[in-house]
Amino acid sequence: MSAPAFDLVIANAHLATMAGTAPYGEIRDGAVAVSGDRIAWVGAARELPGNARTAPTVDAGGRWLTPGLVDCHTHIVYAGNRANEFEARLGGATYAGIAQAGGGIAATVRATRAASIDDLVAQSRPRLAALAAEGVATIEVKSGYGLDVANERKMLEAARAVAAAVGVDLRTTLLAAHALPPEYAGRADDYVDFACREMIPVAAREGFADAVDAFCEGIAFTPAQTRRVFEAARAHGLPVKLHADQLSDTGGAALAAEFGALSADHLEYTNDAGVAAMARAGTTAVLLPGAFHVLRETRLPPVAAFRAHGVPMAIATDCNPGTSPVVSLVLMMNFACTLFRLTPEEALAGATKHAARALGLADRGTLVTGHRADIALWDIAEPADLSYMIGGNACAGVVRAGKVARWPGR
Ligand code: NIG
Ligand code: FE
Repeated sequence: MSAPAFDLVIANAHLATMAGTAPYGEIRDGAVAVSGDRIAWVGAARELPGNARTAPTVDAGGRWLTPGLVDCHTHIVYAGNRANEFEARLGGATYAGIAQAGGGIAATVRATRAASIDDLVAQSRPRLAALAAEGVATIEVKSGYGLDVANERKMLEAARAVAAAVGVDLRTTLLAAHALPPEYAGRADDYVDFACREMIPVAAREGFADAVDAFCEGIAFTPAQTRRVFEAARAHGLPVKLHADQLSDTGGAALAAEFGALSADHLEYTNDAGVAAMARAGTTAVLLPGAFHVLRETRLPPVAAFRAHGVPMAIATDCNPGTSPVVSLVLMMNFACTLFRLTPEEALAGATKHAARALGLADRGTLVTGHRADIALWDIAEPADLSYMIGGNACAGVVRAGKVARWPGR
């Protein structure tokens, strides 16, 4: 049997593979070989197969490699900006109060509906470019500021255009049950009917969303309404995710688990029964420390219970104009450690392998043979530096789907 041909070798690197039993799956003095868009070999440099010597090679200069980062929860495609609400909250207004007065999500819905697809692309692209510059290779983008078929479709079309322009792999999520659009004021159940009868079937038929999400909360949709959304998603073969237990305990985590959700997200108020249900269902916990910080929340997600029950914890930016105007997943790793007491190793796993799991992606998130060759190169002394440092950008290079997108000296 002849040895596999390599299209690219990354030499002279330390590896945080995030696989195996060593902390960070660490391999010092390692190398990675790529064939096509896949990782074909990972290991200690001295064991590199002989045929690697003739393959095109890039030198990592003794820096660290990690899996390309995965931002598994964003609302990055929107128009306008809500800095005015930030100022109002600093003056004493509340997130819920602003929403009740017609601002909040509704303000972004007005701006997003009024925007052309080109406007949406132009406004969203710098945000995604900032994430990609810090090693993000895969992003999830939610709709939820259109709230009718044409505008939800427009948002996710814009997401595809932005992801293609920046070179990042994309998963899209239909978040029709995010807020009540003005034309349905006072008729939440009618809107949920519309979402179930029209929006979800159209998204499934046209294939413009990979999953369905909802905002289950006192200021949004009830557990009963969320259940109807999930039943419609199931009937149309779409997996579900949920904004659960962010501001109060509505039993959202248990409801998500009941439907075998890929993830339940936020989870500050999730109780132990909800955590146990997530563990049984294999639902990933997505922690969003940016929203926690911006809303100056004090109730912490039940991290110890997630650990005790073996629920994987992912971390994401939740990039959105209201509660998390955040375009750095690396900063969220720091917040997850500082605010939620994750370890730096948990934070990196949360932005790589567990984030991939939250999207149902089994082919990425670790540096192992067969995974997509999405790889980030970092100017750091130790993997913990990624969570420790605040500001700057230590990402020195990026390989996406086996192609060098950026490298020192190139
Ligand atoms: O994830 N929780 C609901 N949705 C967003 C906020 C969206 C907004 O305020 O525009 C979130 O925090
Ligand atoms: Fe969100």
